[in-house]
Amino acid sequence: MNRKYRKTVIAGNWKMNKTPSETKEFMAELKSIMPKGRWCDVALCVPAVCIPTAVRTMRETRVGIGGENCNANPSGAYTGEIAANMLTDAGCKYVIIGHSERRAMGETDADVNAKIKAAMAAELIPIVCVGESLEQREANVTNDWITLQIKMALNGIPEEKIRKIIVAYEPIWAIGTGRTATPEQAEEVCEHIRTVIRKLFGAKIARAVSILYGGSMNEKNAFELLAQPDIDGGLIGGASLVPEKFVKIIEAANQPTI
Ligand code: 13P
Repeated sequence: MNRKYRKTVIAGNWKMNKTPSETKEFMAELKSIMPKGRWCDVALCVPAVCIPTAVRTMRETRVGIGGENCNANPSGAYTGEIAANMLTDAGCKYVIIGHSERRAMGETDADVNAKIKAAMAAELIPIVCVGESLEQREANVTNDWITLQIKMALNGIPEEKIRKIIVAYEPIWAIGTGRTATPEQAEEVCEHIRTVIRKLFGAKIARAVSILYGGSMNEKNAFELLAQPDIDGGLIGGASLVPEKFVKIIEAANQPTI
C-alpha cells in the first residue's frame, strides 16, 4: 500500500451467495463490529437482488455497495441484464467488471472495455479484474497476458478517468482454491500492472491507481499481502461472507505505509 498517493480499498465480492434476508443479517452484524478508523475504503459487491437491502442497511455507514457485473448498453432488449445506470440509481458506488468467472462464461476483453466505459458514464467506480490461469503462469506468459488484458480493458478511456478505476489482480489458480499467491508473486504482478499503466498514461496517473489483490485472501494472510508496496487492497470472495473475517481484513489494512 501507499496511502500517500492512492486509496487503500478492501472490497468484498459475494458472487452468487446470500439472499436479501441473509444480507440484512450480515449487514447488521457488520455494522456492530465495523472498525471506526478510516484507513481504507470499504466496498461490498453483492448479488443484484441484494443491492436494495444492502444500500438501505448501510446508508449511514462508510461501506459502499457495488454490483458484480453490468451490461455495456444503456438500455434495451437484453433480457436478464442490468445497465450501469440502474446500479447507480439503486445506490451503488462500485461495479466489478471482467471477473474471471464471467470471462469463463464468454465475456471478452472488448466486452470488458465497453462495460468499463458504460460504468464510468454512469458514475460508478469500476473494479476491473485481470489474471492468468495456472497454465499461463507455468508457461511464463503471465506478464504478457496481463499486459494484453490491461491494454484492452483501458483502450480508449480518457487519461483523466484512469485514476478513478480500480484494478484487481486475481490469478485464476488462486480463486476459491485456498492457494493464495505469495506476497512476492502478487507484488510482482501488481507492480507490473502499474508499469503497464505508467507506459500508457504516465507516472502520475500510474501512481494514483489502486491495484488490489484477489484470490484466497483471508484474515490470516491479508496483513502480509497488504504490506507490499503495489498492493493497495483486496478483492475478497469467501472471507467477505463472514463479518468477523471481513473486518479482520479491514483491520489488516491499518498498517504503516511508505
Ligand atoms: P476467494 O477469495 O473466494 O478466493 O475469491 C476471490 C475472488 O474471486 C474475488 O473476486
